[in-house]
Amino acid sequence: MTERELIEKLDREHGLSEAEYAELIDGRDEGAAELLASLASEKRKAVFGNSIYTRGLIEISSICKNNCLYCGIRRDNRQAERYRLSKEEILSCADEGYGLGFRTFVLQGGEDAFFTDEVLCDIVSELKKKHPDCAVTLSMGERSHESYKALHDAGADRYLLRHETADPEHYAMLHPAEMSFDNRMRCLKDLKEIGYQVGCGFMVGSPGQTSATLAKDLTFIKEFKPDMCGIGPFIPHRNTPFKDETAGTLELTLFLLSVLRLTLPEVLLPATTALGTIHPQGREKGILAGANVVMPNLSPVGVRKKYELYDNKICTGEESAQCRGCLEARMKAVGCTLAVDRGDSPASLKARSL
Ligand code: 5AD
Ligand code: FES
Repeated sequence: MTERELIEKLDREHGLSEAEYAELIDGRDEGAAELLASLASEKRKAVFGNSIYTRGLIEISSICKNNCLYCGIRRDNRQAERYRLSKEEILSCADEGYGLGFRTFVLQGGEDAFFTDEVLCDIVSELKKKHPDCAVTLSMGERSHESYKALHDAGADRYLLRHETADPEHYAMLHPAEMSFDNRMRCLKDLKEIGYQVGCGFMVGSPGQTSATLAKDLTFIKEFKPDMCGIGPFIPHRNTPFKDETAGTLELTLFLLSVLRLTLPEVLLPATTALGTIHPQGREKGILAGANVVMPNLSPVGVRKKYELYDNKICTGEESAQCRGCLEARMKAVGCTLAVDRGDSPASLKARSL
């Protein structure tokens, strides 16, 4: 098939075979990217109108027991400054966010043993008690089925856990031997089965990634049908084994955002901070390629530089209100407005009304 035929098939059938996804990626050029982006942008508008969902991100701990080769807060990075927010600090970030109009809070952190089920359940239930009209999303890494269940019972609505790559050999290149692809997949299945709205995702341009591994990612995502899919460029961090690797490109990230929008028209697709880091208008371009979510930073300004997953991360000097205002202006510039409701995925709303 020609590149154009592949794109038309993707648009018509909401998916391609794994081999066709690889062919589409390998054969891409500027014209293909433009056609894809315009179809994806139309699709975004058909499903979500001009409204962009927002989630307030609270980075609750930079302490991590894991040693992922790409990540700036990996345990072997002795230079990383470690911090952990207290329950009071987390609740106060959320209160401030609530005042700014946020109705979804994402608590994200490294795999920090301090956050036992007891500690985290208490924070989640307190947050839900104070703000019953808000959704609470957790992004705290791999945990047991029992733990995910307890957190869901405590009120957590959503969970973000990027699969990182759907190719087991590639997974092993990105992670130390003690981490396993199978456990990652087990976690994602558990989360779905428990009833969370689930987000998976991957970095674009991570070392070892090929069009074949990306085709596996797209096939996995099509089958898994996550509520959200977070993708952003890999960006090297100076104190990691991947410090000399090259960053993922804006071009491929935008292309894949469009492919994802056409594959799963209703999926929530964030224009990520990493995308905003590799290009000053990265997030705006992400929206124009089919993304429909932004996640401004609500962490206390004093800790922001310490949650450094990659070099030169943006939004580390601004107050929460500034970050929100900045994104509001950026979205306006591309004809969009920020939504102030919970921003549930269309699929999860349908499931709930059954
Ligand atoms: N560049 C880009 N993204 C990164 N992440 C971790 N390290 C990096 C990096 N160096 C992403 C991972 C993780 C998410 C929280 O951040 O995909 O799942
Ligand atoms: Fe955070 Fe612009 S979005 S400062």
